[in-house]
Parts: sequence; structure tokens; C-alpha cells
Amino acid sequence: MAVTAVIGAQWGDEGKGKVVDILAERADLVVRFQGGNNAGHTLVVDGQVYKLHLIPSGVVQGKVGVIGNGCVVDPFVLVKEISDLKARGITPQLRISDRAHLILPYHQAIDKAEEEAKGAAKVGTTGRGIGPCYADKASRIGVHAGDLLHPKRLDEKVKQNVALKQALLTALGSKERLDAAATLKALQAVTPTLQPFLTDTVQLLQAAAEAGESILLEGAQGAMLDLDHGTYPYVTSSATASGGMCSGSGLAPRQIGDVIGVVKAYTTRVGSGPFPTELSLEKGPGEVMSRVGAEVGTTTGRKRRCGWLDLVVVNHAVNLCGINQLAITKMDVLNGLHEVLVCTAYQMPDGRKLTHIPSDLDEFAKAKPVYQSFAGWKDLGDGTWESMPTEARKFLQFIREKTGATIKFVGTGPGREQTVVVR
Ligand code: GDP
Ligand code: IMO
Ligand code: MG
Repeated sequence: MAVTAVIGAQWGDEGKGKVVDILAERADLVVRFQGGNNAGHTLVVDGQVYKLHLIPSGVVQGKVGVIGNGCVVDPFVLVKEISDLKARGITPQLRISDRAHLILPYHQAIDKAEEEAKGAAKVGTTGRGIGPCYADKASRIGVHAGDLLHPKRLDEKVKQNVALKQALLTALGSKERLDAAATLKALQAVTPTLQPFLTDTVQLLQAAAEAGESILLEGAQGAMLDLDHGTYPYVTSSATASGGMCSGSGLAPRQIGDVIGVVKAYTTRVGSGPFPTELSLEKGPGEVMSRVGAEVGTTTGRKRRCGWLDLVVVNHAVNLCGINQLAITKMDVLNGLHEVLVCTAYQMPDGRKLTHIPSDLDEFAKAKPVYQSFAGWKDLGDGTWESMPTEARKFLQFIREKTGATIKFVGTGPGREQTVVVR
């Protein structure tokens, strides 16, 4: 099957960008189907570090990147990302869905004002206007990327929305003053850069799939941040799991073949919400994960929360997304630990032992991890499965057994070549 999907199987930042970069070598098209510049995907190629937010991670391999209809696009961020890459000698080949929704300055203002209004209950969003933009889409007042090519329509929509949003902001106590004319002028300035890329990407992808071209779907965020299936309300506002692959690209379920789940050898989370295996970042293994794993958010620079690998979480993603292959990243970060723990179930206060994520958030917040202990490993050998120490292989084989998915890649460092391909 010509369509392969790469999905984050935890709370994001699993290393999807690196895995997509590797797989992109054999792809014709690399497609983002949800999310926006809340994503931060870091690629390390020949010692060069690339931090991508909106442009699909096949760009360094020179592949055509498609920003699908399920994405939300901040046109100003996108234009900057294009020019930053050009300055480094990479000219992105892009196709942007005319039905993707635009993130406009009022979305960021509302994101900020709503978070402030929530106080201690804040989601800890990236502040990029993601939620308010998807909310407008659902409210049927969103602005399509294709509207950039219809100045009259754009003018009407932006003016109407600015009036609505100003009322909301004022009610929330925000001092922010929105300026429709300034937004329209700024949009006019970026339109010539984006215009050549705007197209009906659904037709494009259907034709490519029909012609047997190799299509790679690149997930952003992770399954636990899915709007329906994640730890609501501490989630992002799009379908990061299987639903998004089809609705956000226009491909049909039957067209999707392998689904590769990207799993960090431990767990991280940015923002608020329950996290059963969370550790202190100040001492012990949590400190090692944070420091050695350089666990700082690519988008916001916040310290990521860290904890042991949670297979209840991973299996939630495996089941939701139909993951049949795994890429286990950042194994090297655990090098040198005497003991490595893996959560296999949750002990609940009422005595029940669960192997699924409770649908009620308060209940999930009370889940205590049940751990299986593994002996640690010193290093990961010379880049082959055979050279990996028995301890590391036991840990990986356990993940394989518990998930039922085959392990395709093991990450041994951030570089493209620091990857064990398991045959
Ligand atoms: P994404 O959002 O899922 O693409 O992940 P991020 O790029 O936000 O975070 C993953 C971080 O880990 C990046 O800085 C990568 O360069 C880095 N990384 C990916 N795989 C590995 C690995 O196997 N080992 C180490 N040490 N770093 C890795
Ligand atoms: P990548 O693609 C990790 C988190 C935020 C917050 C919640 C909602 O790099 O894995 P939003 O701004 O989306 O409304 O924030 O989701 N979040 C991410 N966490 N990696 C990401 O992307 C994330 N994108 C959003 O921290 O908790
Ligand atoms: Mg990231």
C-alpha cells in the first residue's frame, strides 16, 4: 500500500520529525493532515539542526510537502519558515490546501485571554491560536487559505470576525485592540508568496494515490492530545489519532497501509493534565531524561515534564490508530541507568487494576502506575540490532510483545544516521 502514516503514540515530541525525515527518502509526498505551528519537529542532518513547525518534515530530503485541509495555517509563520529554509539553501516545494483554515492575529489574542481567564485550570497551550482557529472552523466562521485569492470575501470575513472577537476579548477583560485593516494589509503582503502553493490538495492526493505514488502522512502532536480520545480538556483541538489521517487529507481509510507509531523510550508531556508515570526533574532518572534528552519544547521553550514509559498510553494509541509498526526513539537517553521501569497497568484507589485509559479524567488523575522493572544498559552497540546489549533488547522485545507491533527503528541519537533499522 502506497500510503504510510507516522503517528505520535504519546503526548507529542516523540521524534516524529526524525522518523518522517528518514522515511521521506522513499516518499513522493509528505503530508501534514492536522495541527499547525503548535508542532515543533526537530531534524538533525549532517550536523545541521532544522526546527520545523508547519512545513512537512520531508523538506530536507527535497520532497513535496502537502499542508492538508485538516491543518490550521498561520500565514505569517509559514512565510517566515519558507524564507528561513531558503536562507539555508532549501527551497520548499509546497502544496497548501485551499480549505486549510487560517490562523489570524485574533486567534492568538483569544488563546492568550482564555488561558488567562482559566487561571489554574489553564490547558498550557502553545499560545499559537490553534484552539480558537479550530473553534471558528466548527462554528463555520473560519477563513480558508483559499480566501486569500478572493479579496472581497476575505475582507468581509476578516472584518466580521474582528468585530466578533473584539467583543469577546473585551468581555474577557483583555486590553487587546484588534485592527482589521492592519490584518488585511499584512495578508495582502504574504499572499504573493503563498499563492503559487494554494490548491485543492484532496484532488492532488487522490490522484497521487491512484497513480501509486508513495505518500507519507506526518502526524503532529500525539494520540494522547487527540481532541476526542486524549486527556480532554488537556488536549489540542484536532484529531491527532486515526480520524485526522482521513478527514484532514481527503484520503479514505482503505487507502492507508502501515501505521507507524513513534514512541519515546520514556514519556514526556508539555502543558497541564494528568501524567501517571511523571518523575521529578530535579533528581534521579527524571533529571537524567530532562537533561540528557534535552527535553525543552521546540515551540515554546518550556521544560517538558518527564516520566517512565507508559505502555497503557502506548496501547491506547496502538488501538486507536491501528499502529502495526513502531519506531522507538531516544533509547540512548536511558544509557547508564541501573534500572529502567515500564508501566504496564494502573492501580486504582478502589482496588481495580486497569490496562486501559479511564475515560473520566478525574479517575485517570488517580491512576497509580504498576511497573515492570528492567536491568539498564550502558550503551547501544554499533548501530545494529545484533550489537545491542541483551538488556536493551529485552526492553524492546517487551514493548513488542505488549503492543503486538513490530519494531522498525530504534533511535540512538538525534542524527538521521543514529538509527538502528530492525530487519
Ligand atoms: P516531534 O515533535 O515528535 O517531531 O519531536 P521533537 O522534534 O519535538 O522532539 C524530539 C527531540 O528528540 C528532537 O530534539 C530530536 O532531535 C531528538 N531525537 C529524536 N530521536 C532521538 C534519539 O533517538 N535520541 C536522541 N538523543 N534524540 C532524539
Ligand atoms: P509536536 O508535533 C507536545 C500541547 C500543548 C498543550 C496542548 C494544547 O511537536 O509533538 P495547543 O497550543 O495545541 O492548543 O496546546 O497541547 N501541544 C504539544 N505538546 N508536542 C506538540 O507538538 C504539541 N502541540 C501542542 O503543550 O498542552
Ligand atoms: Mg515536537
